[in-house]
Amino acid sequence: MPTSTDPTGGRRTRYALVGTGSRARSYLRALVLDHPDMTELVALLDPNPTRLDFHLESLRELGVAEEQLPARYAGGEIERMISERSVERVIVTSPDHTHADVVARVLLAGADVIVEKPLTIDAEGTRRITEAMATSGREVVVTFNYRYSPRNSALRELIASGALGHVTSVQFEWVLDTAHGADYFRRWHRDKANSGGLLVHKASHHFDLVNWWINDVPRRVYASGGLRFYGAENAARDGRGERPARGTGAPGAGTDPFLLDLRADDVNRRLYLEAEQHDGYLRDQDVFTEGITIEDNLSLVVDYAGGASMSYALNAHSPWEGYRVAINGTAGRAELEVVERSAVRTEASRPVVVDPSATGDAAATEGARRAVERLLFQPHWEVAREVPIPKGTGGHGGGDAALGRALFRGVSDDPLGRAANVVDGLHAVSVGIAGNRSLATGLPVLIADLDLGSAPG
Ligand SMILES: NC(=O)c1ccc[n+]([C@@H]2O[C@H](COP(=O)([O-])OP(=O)(O)OC[C@H]3O[C@@H](n4cnc5c(N)ncnc54)[C@H](O)[C@@H]3O)[C@@H](O)[C@H]2O)c1
Repeated sequence: MPTSTDPTGGRRTRYALVGTGSRARSYLRALVLDHPDMTELVALLDPNPTRLDFHLESLRELGVAEEQLPARYAGGEIERMISERSVERVIVTSPDHTHADVVARVLLAGADVIVEKPLTIDAEGTRRITEAMATSGREVVVTFNYRYSPRNSALRELIASGALGHVTSVQFEWVLDTAHGADYFRRWHRDKANSGGLLVHKASHHFDLVNWWINDVPRRVYASGGLRFYGAENAARDGRGERPARGTGAPGAGTDPFLLDLRADDVNRRLYLEAEQHDGYLRDQDVFTEGITIEDNLSLVVDYAGGASMSYALNAHSPWEGYRVAINGTAGRAELEVVERSAVRTEASRPVVVDPSATGDAAATEGARRAVERLLFQPHWEVAREVPIPKGTGGHGGGDAALGRALFRGVSDDPLGRAANVVDGLHAVSVGIAGNRSLATGLPVLIADLDLGSAPG
């Protein structure tokens, strides 16, 4: 944890960040813009020199003076970086399959860790991290930013108040649209060996929410699913014809909404297209090509230790994006409905997401789907009532700022318990790891049989 809680006179904690890709941007902004009194950014590490250059330039643009810029380190230099720069805490935003190695090495080199979800992608990774925690005595925090979204916090508050009674079951459906969902099929996530598939990479957010909402832990998982929309075989079935290997420079770019042209966006161009020469990382692979080993449709049944069960579904090629969750309890039922984006339209060269009600779009006719967030609670024998969702300011309705305060200022008086520790990270990823085993075997999987290791303390 931060070594100082005194913004006026205390010593600042020395931070490094590993994995300077896209997600790194929000952490670097939080460090230098929101919490500079508590944090000192002393090093960046990434195997790709162009992405390091991008972030150093961005820090200059944010006003960081030349002599205050963090030192740069290449991939593999974790121990040297921690020792040379006396790093106390490392933020890990490298790809999912690297988390176990990076986190374990950081811990054993003597620093604490903030790691992006998912904690890791498999049981070997969870064991490596928990063993390194036990050996080093250092701490790991997993960032589950969805907890901080006011609507998700409101549902947690409602359940924690006891209004629903004892929770008996959960129905949870999450749909990703053809803009956001498709993106997981363009780059490293498309290979299960890199991401653990959407059950680990994406749904660990959702499983963490359920664990936290109902204050329980998962016990058994049965999963079914497959790749049914993206990929070469489905493209052939659906008559999509010959596909280019990638979007940038492809003949169809500009008319085909599935083709991402990295030249169309300044950040994508600088962060990925101009960095390819070093590692061959392609950000814009076509979503209908060979080589995809993750699922795009998933259904699960999860049993919880406290007796509740959940039916969960994920779809990654939906025309709209959002989620619906219903929690049944002995005293009533809660329903949260969220439409984040009501449609994806093609406009000129790329897909654009629209909210017809906000844009005055022609589709904003009666009956059109609109961006919405609504939490309903209905006790037995009464009509349903809407539970107010606080409107915060800033990213995710103020959730991003609250997460930053918890991470970098050590604020620990949160009555909703939103800060997630490594145990929460393990429980969240355990459902996806068990789900992947269930997909492979066709059988239900007991989480206790996964040998995930256990966090010390
Ligand atoms: N919480 C959220 O909502 C959220 C959103 C986006 C991404 N993420 C997570 O953030 C992480 C990064 O995702 P991203 O979209 O920024 O990916 P990215 O591909 O944009 O960036 C990853 C960076 O890590 C570097 N890298 C690769 N191997 C490495 C290694 N062994 N050691 C150090 N660096 C290495 C790459 O060169 C790249 O710069 C992932 O774990 C992802 O799940 C979380």
